[in-house]
Amino acid sequence: MKGIILAGGTGSRLMPLTKVTNKHLLPVYDKPMIYYPIKTLADGGIKDIMIVSGKGHAGHFLELLGDGEEFDARFSYAIQVEAGGIAQALGLCYDFADNEKVAVILGDNIFDYDISGAVKDFEQQERGAKIFLKEVDDPKRFGVAEISGDPPKGEAGKIIGIEEKPENPKSNYCVTGLYFFDKQVWDVIKTLKPSGRGELEITDVNNYYIKQGIMSFEILKGEWTDAGTFDSLLKASNLIAGK
Ligand code: DAU
Repeated sequence: MKGIILAGGTGSRLMPLTKVTNKHLLPVYDKPMIYYPIKTLADGGIKDIMIVSGKGHAGHFLELLGDGEEFDARFSYAIQVEAGGIAQALGLCYDFADNEKVAVILGDNIFDYDISGAVKDFEQQERGAKIFLKEVDDPKRFGVAEISGDPPKGEAGKIIGIEEKPENPKSNYCVTGLYFFDKQVWDVIKTLKPSGRGELEITDVNNYYIKQGIMSFEILKGEWTDAGTFDSLLKASNLIAGK
């Protein structure tokens, strides 16, 4: 399985921190933000990793990360010229994936969770996709999953659909920025239309797999946060500092 880190986008919610640098190069406690998703993939056994950045600061990523040796990994780089959405950034990785399954992680997502078991399971799975859900207090600012059953009570649960930043969330289960896809994902991306915010949405990709009945999910056991707002960036630093 190959790894993809999406570190494009504009980081507008962190202005002026992102005026002269890229969000994913900002510090989260004692390391640049992008170190954490890299480590999540590399510790999970995924060593062949494509990093997609915006064109503004692409050279800084290269200078900081090099060929990946420091992480016992191999890095490739791609440029997303305009911030056309998470699914658009992913679409740039078609050749790199070379028909293998992919683990995609958002560059501003910090996981305190060992993904190696999930990676091994997904490699055995014949087809489909997998997402990782986390119960949060503020679901409105995420993709939110509607699920049947009550997983904390041990009920298996089935995923019914995902809504992106809903006004009235159907649950508190947010979709975290870690996604496993089989090679169908490239055909799905080709069918996407821009959303209301003008982006190709990863939620539309996930809903395709759900409709086909080939989406599995896990409730994340470890800690997780994004780091794309002032409050969540602080939360991310505190999470790492507290470990
Ligand atoms: O953090 C999890 C959430 O991430 C999910 O719950 C949502 O379903 C998903 O849409 C996403 O929501 P955000 O609105 O927080 O995504 P944001 O625009 O902040 O982008 C997250 C990362 O994705 C960003 O750090 C870099 C990458 N990205 C984003 C865009 C828009 C790109 O590489 N290119 C892009 O054009």
